[in-house]
Amino acid sequence: MACFALVPAAGGGTRMGAALPKQYLPLCGHPLIRHPLATLAAVPAIERVFVVLSPDDGEWDRHEWRDLSDRLSVLRCGGATRAASVANGLAAMAGRVTPEDWVLVHDAARACLSTGHVETLIATLAGDPVGGILALPVADTLKRGAGAEERVAETIPREHLWQAQTPQMFRHGLLAEALAAHPDVTDEAGAVEALGLSPRLVPADATNFKVTFPRDLALAELILESRRKTA
Ligand code: C5P
Repeated sequence: MACFALVPAAGGGTRMGAALPKQYLPLCGHPLIRHPLATLAAVPAIERVFVVLSPDDGEWDRHEWRDLSDRLSVLRCGGATRAASVANGLAAMAGRVTPEDWVLVHDAARACLSTGHVETLIATLAGDPVGGILALPVADTLKRGAGAEERVAETIPREHLWQAQTPQMFRHGLLAEALAAHPDVTDEAGAVEALGLSPRLVPADATNFKVTFPRDLALAELILESRRKTA
């Protein structure tokens, strides 16, 4: 069984409030998306990295990808939602993989993914019957807010609560089937869970966060710079 990566990058990133989609915002001198693509392409167990762009993406070709190009395939088949982009990407790569092959779906916006994160996920799930996801055990006390002022309505016990991250690793056939049956999910695991299966939670760390708001760029830059200095 082979491993492939699929990176949905067809979103607009409206919460960033920037003119460019967030996957192209500058981070350490490169478009943000280059960092996770380069990380995935550097993992020997991953045969090929597929990136899903919006059909009307006009930005990708403005950048230089030659150093990654022998490990990277561009699919211009993004959809209206993240789940649709992933489902379209799975369909577009179908001729190049078998239903039993693993696909690691990774958000373009998780810029600080490390090869260690990916290798831990693959090593933990290699023999797993379902697959699983990187995730972070919840450390803070959780409150549910309510009303116009968002006043605390409830404290939620944090035991057994995890924040879902990516990559999310499932077999190509199972994931395509799950997303076709359950397109209204916000992550791949949600679709697999809806089939009645229980994906495994593989502990990761907070550096694998999703760049969502403008202030997140500075934090991502600090993490990548400090890794570069200690490499
Ligand atoms: O917007 P959000 O941060 O949740 O998006 C997560 C990932 O899904 C991003 O990499 C984004 O580019 C991608 N996406 C997509 N197609 C969409 C919406 C989001 O590929 N229609």
